Amino acid sequence: MKLAVIYDSKTNNTKMAAEWIVSGMSEVEGVEAKAFSIQEVDEEFVKEANGVVFGSPSYATAMTPDMHNFLMPKAMKLGLGGKLGGAFATEQFTHGGGDLVIQALLNYEMTNGMLCYSGGNAWGLPNIHLGPVAVNNNKEAHNGMEHYKDYFVTYGNRFASKARELF
Ligand SMILES: Cc1cc2nc3c(=O)[nH]c(=O)nc-3n(C[C@H](O)[C@H](O)[C@H](O)COP(=O)(O)O)c2cc1C
Repeated sequence: MKLAVIYDSKTNNTKMAAEWIVSGMSEVEGVEAKAFSIQEVDEEFVKEANGVVFGSPSYATAMTPDMHNFLMPKAMKLGLGGKLGGAFATEQFTHGGGDLVIQALLNYEMTNGMLCYSGGNAWGLPNIHLGPVAVNNNKEAHNGMEHYKDYFVTYGNRFASKARELF
């Protein structure tokens, strides 16, 4: 089973988070997971995938304009309807809007008929309510991407397990 993670990233934080999700997905037997930046998406791979997770940095608490411009024309072409969908975000402030970015991505996925999955509370700790958010250390010295790695790996593992169960 193929699973794709598609992200926008200018300074590599969101790219790193995407790769952590892929590593968690890849722990699940029978899963071939790949991450793609929006500049170099393998559209055939995505079309064949049963699940797609989208990720974006928070820009003024919204997904990036580039992510928005990628999603708008692409959805029909990528055949997202019926696939399992998920979302994640990175930010530089603890209260920097990451959950709002995830919610906007999930809204977009639902609008296109995806089946959205967050892992939620069903698995117990760590609870991931809508999707994982990482805070980098650009502005908050006590924060840093590495603090959040386990959330992303765990999320990828749960997402892939659910995809296997469903498909
Ligand atoms: C134009 C712009 C707007 C941003 N707005 C926010 C924001 O509202 N909240 C926040 O926490 N971080 C904000 N950031 C910081 C990024 O979300 C953060 O550094 C993110 O991890 C960058 O991801 P990347 O390294 O994958 O590009 C902003 C960055 C830029 C360039």
